[in-house]
Amino acid sequence: MTVTFRLATTSPPRVDADVLAVPVFADRVLGPGADSVDEYVPGGLEAFMEAAGFDGKAGRAVLVPAPDGVAARAVLLVGVGAPETVDARRIRRCAAAVARRLPKAVSVATTLLDALPADGDRVDAAQALAEGFVLGGYRYLTYKSEGEHAALAQVTVLGRGGARVQAGLDRGVAVARAVAWARDMVNTPAGAKAPAAFAAAAEKLLAGTGVTVEVLDLAAIRKEKLGGVLGVGQGSQQSPRFVKVTYDPRGARGSIALVGKGVCFDSGGLSIKTASGMETMKTDMGGAAAVLATMSVLSELGVKTRVVGYTPMVENMPSGTAIRPGDVLRIRNGKTVEVLNTDAEGRLILADALSLAVEDGHDAIIDLATLTGACVVALGEKVAGLMGNDDGWRAQVADAADRAGERVWPLPLPDEYRTAMDSDVADLKNISGGHYGGALTAGIFLRAFVGDVPWAHLDIAGPARASSDDGEMVKGGTGFGVRTLVELVSRFKRPSRS
Ligand code: BES
Ligand code: ZN
Ligand code: ZN
Repeated sequence: MTVTFRLATTSPPRVDADVLAVPVFADRVLGPGADSVDEYVPGGLEAFMEAAGFDGKAGRAVLVPAPDGVAARAVLLVGVGAPETVDARRIRRCAAAVARRLPKAVSVATTLLDALPADGDRVDAAQALAEGFVLGGYRYLTYKSEGEHAALAQVTVLGRGGARVQAGLDRGVAVARAVAWARDMVNTPAGAKAPAAFAAAAEKLLAGTGVTVEVLDLAAIRKEKLGGVLGVGQGSQQSPRFVKVTYDPRGARGSIALVGKGVCFDSGGLSIKTASGMETMKTDMGGAAAVLATMSVLSELGVKTRVVGYTPMVENMPSGTAIRPGDVLRIRNGKTVEVLNTDAEGRLILADALSLAVEDGHDAIIDLATLTGACVVALGEKVAGLMGNDDGWRAQVADAADRAGERVWPLPLPDEYRTAMDSDVADLKNISGGHYGGALTAGIFLRAFVGDVPWAHLDIAGPARASSDDGEMVKGGTGFGVRTLVELVSRFKRPSRS
């Protein structure tokens, strides 16, 4: 079901909707809209909130039957926290809380946007509000015999509006749709998204979006000498694919490469994972899903930059044909890699993709990859590791993530750790052999394939999947990275090489 968002200046008690959602600040201070409902409630809302133990803390919500004089069927009091702390990120989380709380409501009217301080950016907050409503109501039900999609069809945003705010809402819907596609792909069982099927899903997604799609099959991957993709893919019955997608608007300003790890299932290969370590490894294509999802909205959002996506897709399996520890691969750029651990496969396929991106002469490259368990140890499940070879470009990525409401945090790529990947027989090996700093050594490995092109790397091993509902995140695949990439390409500035 697609949700439509419209603006209206109707007074909150008069608006016709299943539910009227109004903000309440910390310490039960009634926000815009809540105050106008209050006068119709016999005894006032204060007594009700106290009895319900509702304090206005951000993300909490309590449903009140609509009193006489209020046209909506019910009123949802939504805690938004202290007034000065309300920003787009808070609005997104609170909108998601509303959607999650009201799975049966078809129409919701809300004054939530008016909780924003007067100096807040109302257009950004409108986008965040739409994202929150759509993403908080996300469900993956493809294989459920029972279970219903959220009923929400219409959100009426009350208060000051105008064309720019409506454009913010529309942008939020478009971005959320892209995020939901990435979530669907991550949540799809690995048996239903082998590389060929994943590539076909990408073609279907991008048909008619002004993005051209090139799918390399096994023969083409051989011809192009993508040795990392071939080596990782050789143990699986499901042959690999390499999907290259191009958005090239007229008069483009600059050119960016988006690279995404597309391991449709990561068993570890012969360096096999434990049973529990494999449970979530259908998530290992979350980087590729984020890249492809982003590509699908560029034209709709009027992005003026040329954007090319590179998504290698493989299944990492153990078998009689699988790559063995000690085997040597030749990557697209000619470098040789001794594969000592077949579970460090992401960097091998990314090495090919980064090499191709470098050949194509972009102004900057960013890759997204569920690359290391070590990054999850370092930053937890909700924060991505940000690495790179160019301070200015890394700062653009950090900034984009911040505006998008996705958490990233910088990690270093110390030269001192490079020698740990020296190989006895090849140019480098794919693991350091040490126990510590695995997110950094993976980053240092990737750096060997980007030359001097400004490059940033997001290790999304933690945030690609959520272990519980939280704000706009729903348990399962999160689509992490789509929002950051959309922001990044929308405001791209060519990095001056540092
Ligand atoms: N896909 C995994 C990384 C991962 C682990 C993502 C846990 C999400 C949650 C990656 O391919 C991998 O297995 N990396 C190894 C690298 C090691 C062998 C150097 C890891 O992190 O253990
Ligand atoms: Zn692995
Ligand atoms: Zn992996």
